[in-house]
Amino acid sequence: MIKIGKKIKGVIERDKNIIFTTTRSPYPFVADRFDGYYAYDVEGNKYLDFSTFISIYNFGKEGLELVKHAVKLQAEKLMHSAFQDFYAELPVTAAEKLVSLLPSGFGRVFFSNSGTEANEAALKFSKVFTKRQYSIAFYNAFHGRTMGSLGLTASKSVQREGFGPFNSTIHVPFAYCYRCPFKQEYPSCGLACVDYIKKYPLGKEVSPSEVSAIFIEPIQGEGGYIVPPKDFFKEIRKIASDNGILLVDDEVQAGYMRTGKFLALDNFGVEADIYTMAKALGGGLPIGATITRKSLGDIPSGSHANTFGGNLVSIAAANASLEYMMANESRIRNAVRSNGAYIMKRLNKMEDDYEIVGDVRGIGMMIGIEIVKDKKSKDYGIEEREKILNNSFYNGLLLLPAGVSSIRIIPPLTIKKSSLEAGMDILEDSIRNANK
Ligand SMILES: Cc1ncc(COP(=O)(O)O)c(C=O)c1O
Repeated sequence: MIKIGKKIKGVIERDKNIIFTTTRSPYPFVADRFDGYYAYDVEGNKYLDFSTFISIYNFGKEGLELVKHAVKLQAEKLMHSAFQDFYAELPVTAAEKLVSLLPSGFGRVFFSNSGTEANEAALKFSKVFTKRQYSIAFYNAFHGRTMGSLGLTASKSVQREGFGPFNSTIHVPFAYCYRCPFKQEYPSCGLACVDYIKKYPLGKEVSPSEVSAIFIEPIQGEGGYIVPPKDFFKEIRKIASDNGILLVDDEVQAGYMRTGKFLALDNFGVEADIYTMAKALGGGLPIGATITRKSLGDIPSGSHANTFGGNLVSIAAANASLEYMMANESRIRNAVRSNGAYIMKRLNKMEDDYEIVGDVRGIGMMIGIEIVKDKKSKDYGIEEREKILNNSFYNGLLLLPAGVSSIRIIPPLTIKKSSLEAGMDILEDSIRNANK
């Protein structure tokens, strides 16, 4: 059982006094140390990590050790090289590695420091490439919180409140089948959500010839771990291709083998025109990358740049993480397959056994459960979710929320079976308690 002592209370009190409000977990975790599987707080309490610190530490202890080593070496040599002004080899190597992992035809990489910046770049580039001003994004989407990407984000209204107007993005319904906005069922719906996009936003609000890009997340992350049906993105790709619109795939949270493939969109048999990446790409250091099809060309020199994109320490971390992933690809893929299947088996049983487990969904090891008041009403189980997160925390399991009442299950991909079982046992106990 986790003990909350003076040190934890002290840090939280000082934090509340001085740090700008941000999103915070309902439980008092004060991070001190992490070994790739287990996290420790400032009192020495030990936690099994099912959060990967928001989808960052995908490759467990082995991956983390390589990243740390690379970072130490690079920090000794040169940390910042003003990559926007001077040349350096390491970012070029990282870009070459990234492109080698993408479908053929990709060949231009822009480095930044975060997911939001990767999407800002995609937004700007797609406007320049197409000379069109509008973008399309989905309800429940999360693409970041700076002014451009926030226009794309429509996950929770609090994230946008007071910051608008955002007038160049049209939002359209995602295939959120558990809560279908059209109250239909897949597949008998015939993808009514796609029909709606064609008929209404693109039929009555904005001409497709004025749309530069459609932004997607292969699995909506922050919005609730929402997995669309297999053929959804094929239809979206078709709308884009038929109308000269670019498809931007935000892989920030779902990529880097989390779903068993480097690109989560590959699970849907669809290619994008621009990919955006961040999070686990840096193995724990800040990084963003925007990668475009070579055929789209370049943008005028000086029209987009930053200070820290291509920072050598972040790039060294990304290179180490990518090298680990490439060298261990089949082992990681197998781990994702068997760990993911185990998590799903346990969660499907919980869905049968507990009234508050409304929906279980995911691909590979990007898995979410939606907590409800009861299965019939599907009313959001907000308090129930909080109980589950808290109870898990006090029993030594770190979990993160998503959407209105969902929970992310995103352990390190290479987690040991025994740890996975232990974590799922804690989660099930917490669900059982909240279900009472
Ligand atoms: C899919 C997706 N895109 C973009 C972002 C924004 O990334 P960052 O917080 O690094 O700006 C996130 C962050 O959670 C994300 O999940």
